[in-house]
Amino acid sequence: MKEITITFTLNDKQVSATTSPNRLLVDFLRKDLGITSVKKGCSEGECGACTVICNGKPITSCTALAGQIHGAKIITLEGLRRDGELDILQETFMDTGAVQCGFCTPGMILSAKALLMENPNPGQEEIRRAMSGNLCRCTGYTKILEAVSLAADSPEGGTDGSE
Ligand code: FES
Ligand code: FES
Repeated sequence: MKEITITFTLNDKQVSATTSPNRLLVDFLRKDLGITSVKKGCSEGECGACTVICNGKPITSCTALAGQIHGAKIITLEGLRRDGELDILQETFMDTGAVQCGFCTPGMILSAKALLMENPNPGQEEIRRAMSGNLCRCTGYTKILEAVSLAADSPEGGTDGSE
């Protein structure tokens, strides 16, 4: 199959790469580009572990093709840390004990990040809705929702870190 070349922004860096037209985005990011925060769980769009932010919206990278992100702005967990400082969501997930094995955590944080980028002051219902596509087999959801609420209450909550 003829390879395609895609150009996109990954965590504020321009990337150009060749890939197969049927390469899944999750495999492209994780295996080809070494972005290991992107986890592959169910491979069916159900668990949210493979979530990345694409043009400001959370998407499941196991249900997208690499070719679909040509020209897009992609954010993964690796892109949240700025100047050695963790993102407020990374801080609140640690502070509240919202992490156990950590498998779901990158996807959780990115779903929450996309919400706060769009709405810096979400209500509980909006937070629950935004997080509803992300499953955790360890912690239960109370601490995770608490972590997102705490971040939303912080002045840093609604920024994407680039300003
Ligand atoms: S691995 Fe993509 S949603 Fe589960
Ligand atoms: S912390 Fe283990 S799956 Fe969520």
